Amino acid sequence: MREITSAVQIVLPQHCNGYARPRLFGGQIMAWIDVVGAVAARRYAQRAVTTACVDNLTFLKPAYLNDTIVQEAIVTWTGRTSMEVRVDSFVEQLDGTRSMVNRAYAVFVAIDDDGNPAPVPPFVPETEEEKRDCADALERRKFRLRQNKAEPVLAGSACQSRPRRAGERTKTMDALTAIMTRRSTRRYAPRAVPRETLETIVEAGRAAPSGGNSQTTRFLVIVRGALLEELAGTVQDAFAGMELRDDMYKSLKHSIQASKKGGYRFHYDAPALIVTANRRDYGNAMADCACALENMMLAANALDLGSCWINQLRWLTDHPAVREKMLALGMAPDEFVCGALAVGWPDTPDALPPRAPLPRTGNPVTWID
Ligand SMILES: Cc1cc2nc3c(=O)[nH]c(=O)nc-3n(C[C@H](O)[C@H](O)[C@H](O)COP(=O)(O)O)c2cc1C
Repeated sequence: MREITSAVQIVLPQHCNGYARPRLFGGQIMAWIDVVGAVAARRYAQRAVTTACVDNLTFLKPAYLNDTIVQEAIVTWTGRTSMEVRVDSFVEQLDGTRSMVNRAYAVFVAIDDDGNPAPVPPFVPETEEEKRDCADALERRKFRLRQNKAEPVLAGSACQSRPRRAGERTKTMDALTAIMTRRSTRRYAPRAVPRETLETIVEAGRAAPSGGNSQTTRFLVIVRGALLEELAGTVQDAFAGMELRDDMYKSLKHSIQASKKGGYRFHYDAPALIVTANRRDYGNAMADCACALENMMLAANALDLGSCWINQLRWLTDHPAVREKMLALGMAPDEFVCGALAVGWPDTPDALPPRAPLPRTGNPVTWID
């Protein structure tokens, strides 16, 4: 049984910025992560340790003055002299309920009295959870090494690396994490997504709210490679035949320019494309489809799949060749394409969707207290 090292803090004025509702500094929580992680590593190694790197400082929600912060650290993997420690940080409410603020992975190196790397006891995973943690840690380590992060190259470990299998999740993800880590994926591996996984994603779309509970969003799930190929050709031909105008939306302009050049892949060669359509005479058509598309993007992220909103079929919904194809696939004559979603296994070094946060400099917020 692995030991969990816990720490508890109350957010005090010196930990906060000076906003009207003071918020905890990100740097403060990072310092606490470092401390609780180091203590977990010290307890494990029974030696002094030094921090090699910390992954993922994405903050899922803010913490405010007077909040209780609870942190839990646990060793997930060991090399010869290094250890990976997972540190979860939560805000704890007065009734004891917790919501996650951050999950970080920190690597520590054990050091001897002269400050040289010193061996640590190998962590031999026993339970299914430990084995999963250990295998995931190895994948993260490979990724860090590829990124030339400051982790020392260390030999030997007690668990075996194995490639991620289709449909296998690296971890379960709560709703806020799925929201805060979602990014668009535009490179896909040429590998089919299992039917049941796609069904889960489509069900997430169908579970979205709709104006007046109309439930008129139609989902066309295209996974037939030959059909996607054909559609890509139709889309390219349609854009190539359009005239460029200066006042055009820049992405539409790009689609036309790229199609005129040839080789345009509007769906990024994703193995699945989920088209949403709705009735033309329904005022919430776009809003309902957007809710469904966002639900599906979040579900895909939670399942470690990549996704990207694809607007091209909406722009071309009245293009005769595209419309004919959509009608043949099951769209009703009184419907139009609202948007589509590319879904697939990300073609990234760790086979996971990109999750680095995109800074929000727009989307202004006004609080009216
Ligand atoms: C309504 C809408 C339409 C979009 N259309 C496209 C598109 O046609 N192709 C594309 O690559 N990305 C498209 N995107 C994705 C945005 O470019 C992307 O969400 C944005 O750059 C922020 O990046 P992120 O999704 O990684 O956070 C669209 C997003 C939205 C919300």
